[in-house]
Amino acid sequence: MNLILMGLPGAGKGTQAEQIIKKYDIPHISTGDMFRGAIKEGTPLGKKAKEFMDAGELVPDEVTIGIVRERLNKEDCLKGFLLDGFPRTISQAEALEQILAELGRSIDHVLHILVDPAELLARLTGRRICRNCGATYHLIFNPPKVEGECDKCSGELYQRDDDNEKTVGTRLKVNIDQQQPLLEFYQEKGYLRNIEGAKPIDIVFKDIEAVLSQTS
Ligand code: AP5
Ligand code: ZN
Repeated sequence: MNLILMGLPGAGKGTQAEQIIKKYDIPHISTGDMFRGAIKEGTPLGKKAKEFMDAGELVPDEVTIGIVRERLNKEDCLKGFLLDGFPRTISQAEALEQILAELGRSIDHVLHILVDPAELLARLTGRRICRNCGATYHLIFNPPKVEGECDKCSGELYQRDDDNEKTVGTRLKVNIDQQQPLLEFYQEKGYLRNIEGAKPIDIVFKDIEAVLSQTS
């Protein structure tokens, strides 16, 4: 299955991706995770991405498209993929069409997780992530059993650099502006599946499973 996961920052893309990739056995391609990995390793890509991410702005298209092209060409993507956080602009979406055409592939579904922007600030500032396995928690909505510790691997939980109030405000504005034309782009192609995201995590996943089983 070839999937795209869309939604504003904090809508639950990463949270749902954890379950989707497990059930459908496809690789998780998150441009945000790839940039954070590059920042951690101190690569030139990481240095370039960091200034945009810290400001809450989008990393330039040519950089982002380049890393996705490389990733989609890897062998594990032959069984399908879940793109999370890409594309985020029309030129990224057009580049993706081109990359997939070259590979003889196409998109099956674009899952759009809808949450009222007013809820997203609390979701993002309360988010905590496992340093070891990347699992996502929330101090109130999805707390770990032991404070500061991952349920799955006992790794340390940390807060992302861009999850402070100021950067979250910019991220929401930038993404609200960019997202609408993209939703129209995929609606016109008949790929768009809207999922109500303001429900408990497990219910949102059940809704995703239902959509994928009905339409695949
Ligand atoms: P990225 O890493 O993609 O971040 P984002 O889009 O801002 O999305 P998030 O990861 O913050 O949110 P999410 O939807 O995954 O929510 P989550 O599941 O964690 O991008 C970061 C930056 O990288 C960008 O700002 C940009 O600079 C750059 N970048 C990335 N891709 C790019 C691209 N294509 N082009 C250019 N630049 C790019 O959930 C959030 C919280 O809510 C968690 O605490 C979770 O536990 C909780 N939660 C989840 N679901 C629920 C629920 N149903 N009910 C209650 N709480 C919930
Ligand atoms: Zn962990």
